[in-house]
Amino acid sequence: MVRSMSEDATPPSKHHGLIVVIDGPAGAGKSTVARRVAQALELPVLDTGAIYRTVALAGDRAGVPWTDGEGLAALASTMPLVFVAASVARSGRQEVWLGDEEVTDAIRTPHVSDGASRVSSLPPVRAALLDLQRKLGTSGCVGEGRDLGTVVFPAADHKFFLTASTKVRAERRHRELVSRGGDVPSLAEVLAAMNERDARDSGREVAPLARADDAREVDSSGATIDEVVAEILRHVDET
Ligand code: DC
Repeated sequence: MVRSMSEDATPPSKHHGLIVVIDGPAGAGKSTVARRVAQALELPVLDTGAIYRTVALAGDRAGVPWTDGEGLAALASTMPLVFVAASVARSGRQEVWLGDEEVTDAIRTPHVSDGASRVSSLPPVRAALLDLQRKLGTSGCVGEGRDLGTVVFPAADHKFFLTASTKVRAERRHRELVSRGGDVPSLAEVLAAMNERDARDSGREVAPLARADDAREVDSSGATIDEVVAEILRHVDET
């Protein structure tokens, strides 16, 4: 069971029903950009990576190995995952809860990142999460992930593919880990893990990371977040 919870009764956005998707590799800036675009359009964010991350964490906790597709799919269908939509506007980050435990930070460790990449390559897990993602996004969302434009929302109103050079993406992810504190891997280790994850995400047989034919590619390497957000909003306004 996955649901999105709104903490307050805000009136529907004038963009109600609009589906904007932002796909791309890890560290391209999808989360920050999606959050900012969602705030501007008054739509909820659908962070699909967080769903795969929570499946990996739930598997770890329940003793279901990251190779057991059927076991993880069963877990994915029943896990009490809740996204708190209003927390994005309030604190700038989306809270993720698994039952009565907040797992917002627990799903961002390097260990769980590795697990998310592994569990997301298993066809039964992807199948188990497909309808859930569609249900969560159906009344409008800014979704971010790997296969939203190609598989989850092929008829999305606006599709973007956000990229950046591997070096820039590794530096961003390293800075993010440093800002979270704790045991931080070196930049070289982050780069190596990122290359490994990219290869797995792009090379898997089911729903690999890929740009939809009708997605607009945006390279964030030399751009600020403001510039990327402005480009996306301009395109949404114009089309
Ligand atoms: O975006 P992220 O780093 O939080 O994603 C975590 C993992 O989940 C990543 O390795 C790829 C996978 N993923 C996926 O396969 N499909 C999606 N739509 C989103 C994420």
